[in-house]
Amino acid sequence: MPFILGIETSCDETAAAVVARDGEVLSSVVASQLDVHARYGGVVPELASREHLRAIVPVVREAMQEAHASWADLSAVAATAGPGLVGSLLVGLTFAKGICAVRRLPLIGVNHLEGHIHAVVLDARRSNEEIELPALALVASGGHTHLFLWTGGEHYQLLGKTRDDAAGEAYDKVAKLLGFGYPGGPVLDLIAPHGDPAAVDLPMAKMKGNPLDFSFSGLKTAVLRWVQSREMEAEIAARRQLLKAKPRPRLEEWLEVTPPATRNLVAAFQAVVVEELLKRVERAAEETGARSVIISGGVACNAGLRRAARSGRLSCPAYFPTPHLSTDNAAMIAAAAWPKFERGEFDDFSLRAQANLALA
Ligand code: KG4
Ligand code: ZN
Repeated sequence: MPFILGIETSCDETAAAVVARDGEVLSSVVASQLDVHARYGGVVPELASREHLRAIVPVVREAMQEAHASWADLSAVAATAGPGLVGSLLVGLTFAKGICAVRRLPLIGVNHLEGHIHAVVLDARRSNEEIELPALALVASGGHTHLFLWTGGEHYQLLGKTRDDAAGEAYDKVAKLLGFGYPGGPVLDLIAPHGDPAAVDLPMAKMKGNPLDFSFSGLKTAVLRWVQSREMEAEIAARRQLLKAKPRPRLEEWLEVTPPATRNLVAAFQAVVVEELLKRVERAAEETGARSVIISGGVACNAGLRRAARSGRLSCPAYFPTPHLSTDNAAMIAAAAWPKFERGEFDDFSLRAQANLALA
């Protein structure tokens, strides 16, 4: 069985995976840099590149060992070429080129967003489900909020994207403001069910132009104003203290330092983000006649979003990746590379890392 080795280093995760032609994931190793960046409340690009350099050799080695694969078993090496932090991308892409040069293997550059979409295809394939095309693909992560129409193969049409913050970025900024640390999505998602979303009135984005574009900066500013208009210093300090004492507090510990009014704020924030995302997906599904909806990227882990997308409001089925394939990983990169391999689409060593690489 031929394998593709995938390498992903676009942001703050060093990842390598071995995926077989039939979609079996033989290994998927992710070395997270969360602890390095957490104290800065976001990803520091220079630190990210340095950590990738440290991690790339052991992570690739571990992925190969776990898959019981030898270099001779590989059909190709795939690496994320963009979009992402250019210094981070360079580490994975250069390493992939090195393997290809020494082992005389074909190189396949993959767009990170296409990888996120293929994470869902990979999962569906493993559970014998077929995602009917055309499909809408929403990629919502810390760096992107893009809505595509995917008609198959390499054919992606960009229907809308964020004009300011990405959805995950909004989570991260609001969490930082409220003292919940980084990354913000997972913890706010846990707190949200413990508040009443109707108790705090937060605005939906008002936008001219493309109705399928997204915007989250107004929401973030509304949260900031809400916080500034209340005396919240003590509770914010208590949460920061909790994080200092324990890097990953449990829900009960968070709730102890989060009064009902703040829980309501978090619930309202999550409700607006979910509505902003799904409103556009719903509209795009109607306009395009899409037969499926793919939702991927770190924000696809969100329990509120998953519940709402499957509540029957969409005109077609919604597919999410399993949580470990939602956030950045290399199995999705190898999975996205397989169709390119089948079509004989290879890259040469002039392939550059591109911070703003577009998918459509
Ligand atoms: O896809 P990803 O791992 O990296 C990027 O490509 O950005 O996504 C990370 C983002 C972070 O902003 C994080 O806060 C968000 O995904 N995230 C979530 C959840 N889990 C992760 N956002 C909302 N709810 C979650 N459960
Ligand atoms: Zn990502």
